Amino acid sequence: MNIILFGAPGAGKGTQSALLVERKGMRQISTGDIFRAHIKQETRLGSEAKTFMDAGQLVPDSIVVGMVEDVLKDLGGQNFILDGFPRTVPQAEALEMMLLNNGLKIGKALFLEVPMAVLIARLAGRRVCTNCGATYHVLVKPPASPGVCDLCGSAVEQRQDDKEDVVLTRQTAYATSTEPLKEYFAQKGQFVTVSGVGETEEIYNRLSAHL
Ligand code: AP5
Ligand code: MG
Ligand code: ZN
Repeated sequence: MNIILFGAPGAGKGTQSALLVERKGMRQISTGDIFRAHIKQETRLGSEAKTFMDAGQLVPDSIVVGMVEDVLKDLGGQNFILDGFPRTVPQAEALEMMLLNNGLKIGKALFLEVPMAVLIARLAGRRVCTNCGATYHVLVKPPASPGVCDLCGSAVEQRQDDKEDVVLTRQTAYATSTEPLKEYFAQKGQFVTVSGVGETEEIYNRLSAHL
């Protein structure tokens, strides 16, 4: 089954997607990760997105939709997870068209529900590998050797948009633009709420029960 995994910044979308990729062979499509890869490679798309991302604002719909379309065309039948897309109602509408055009279907939109105080603590402590993107947390999941990725040995750093003031802008953008999607998915009969609080493994079990 193909799924949309959505939730506020810090809800655990990336963490849970990594487990679904590893254990269920699904393909993760994270628009945030794709943008960060473009920024690193200094592409035009990357420079268009960077100003918005650094400020904690959403990248304009037209840019995001075109990027996702390229990925969806090229999936080759693998089950996928949309992580961080769609994030606005116009993006969700564009997704419907893209799915139709490519003969694809979404089974469920799984919403990871996490209270604000927990989100803030997760983002404040998050560290990410600059090379492979592996995600850590200074308290909950530190790398074995400080500042060094367990998987590839590269430097582990704080994401630019995890600085305190930017986090608040991101949470506001989420509340304003992305929360209304709950209603959108509910009307499609796809909406499922899953508690995103607790141990990573517990949450994984809750999510995979819906697949
Ligand atoms: P994106 O990269 O998608 O960021 P986000 O939605 O803000 O979500 P995060 O990646 O911050 O959180 P997450 O839910 O993946 O949490 P994680 O698993 O890492 O987007 C970044 C930017 O790109 C946007 O602001 C926007 O500018 C742009 N963009 C992207 N998509 C777009 C779109 N569709 N439209 C427009 N603009 C777009 O976990 C967080 C931390 O918590 C980690 O440290 C982790 O180790 C820890 N953690 C996870 N689970 C647990 C647990 N159960 N217990 C304790 N700690 C945990
Ligand atoms: Mg993420
Ligand atoms: Zn790494």
